[in-house]
Amino acid sequence: MAIRKVGVIGCGLMGHGIVQVAAQGGFDVVAFESDKGALDKGLGRVEKSLAKLAEKAIEKGKPKDKAEADAKAAFGRIKGTLDKRDLADCDLVIEAIVEDLGVKKKLFAELGAACKPGTIFASNTSSFPIGEMGAASGRAERMVGLHFFNPVQLMKLVEVVRSSATSDEVFAEARAFGEAVGKTPVACKDTPGFVVNRLLVPYMTQALLMLERGDASKEDIDAAMQFGCGHPMGPITLTDYVGLDTTLSILEGWVERYPGEQAFAIPAVLRQKVKEGKLGRKSGEGFYRWEGDKKS
Ligand code: 3HC
Repeated sequence: MAIRKVGVIGCGLMGHGIVQVAAQGGFDVVAFESDKGALDKGLGRVEKSLAKLAEKAIEKGKPKDKAEADAKAAFGRIKGTLDKRDLADCDLVIEAIVEDLGVKKKLFAELGAACKPGTIFASNTSSFPIGEMGAASGRAERMVGLHFFNPVQLMKLVEVVRSSATSDEVFAEARAFGEAVGKTPVACKDTPGFVVNRLLVPYMTQALLMLERGDASKEDIDAAMQFGCGHPMGPITLTDYVGLDTTLSILEGWVERYPGEQAFAIPAVLRQKVKEGKLGRKSGEGFYRWEGDKKS
């Protein structure tokens, strides 16, 4: 495998998890953030998560010394930086910034000018076209989607998205990277929401519309899907978990691009919550109140 050094842009909810699984997979990782506070927070989360996973591994019988040494070694492979020039010699750069296509295209144009010719570019976008970002980078054949799931450390899937321009070699490298970080890769075409979000986001939307209509309480909607369908969490808890702002950005992007698609509706209650700054787990309140990872 040609990928050894991986850059991750953005150390937030998804980015910090991608940094972590790449380091755990044995890659050297450059974690970029534009702000020192955000970088420190992201790396702090990685350290905490590695410690938690080591603790779990010890409970399952892994020798304590080995579990702690592995966690320390993984953390040691991560270099945090506020300087984008540190990404120039990475073999793979994964973008995990705000879900705004304009901002992402601008970033890929910058990366296209700055990174070595062999660098593969990847976006963790939930819903935007990989082909458009590839075109912005000036090397569309070296661009893929690597879409991870929240929490990245625990969810086993990565969608590997290829646009019509992605080369076979780059796609194969990206897929092998997904496997090397312990995920099950699935191949997807460059379609709105790829596989998971094309199914999941309309489902979450329907749950919110149900809540708006007063068909059932949020607790009962969640319990129905948890106990009736065996989902680990119900759709409204999941919307809080994913982030209300992220869910709204996905839907707004789709509604603008595909105005005729009835599955892409925006519930008023979602807009209202985001306007109030209630973004879900990340802000401590969405449809539920949260303390860290748990509903309070
Ligand atoms: N790192 C390390 N450990 C973690 C962790 C992390 N990031 N997050 C949670 N854990 C630990 C918890 O601390 C807990 O430890 P404990 O047993 O010692 O208390 C353990 O994992 C289990 O967590 P929970 O107690 O919260 O219990 P669950 O059994 O419910 O597991 C879950 C949590 C794996 C998140 C599960 O609820 C789940 O699978 N939920 C569905 C998540 C999902 O659907 N994600 C996809 C969202 S869509 C998406 O991301 C796409 C985007 O583009 C929108």
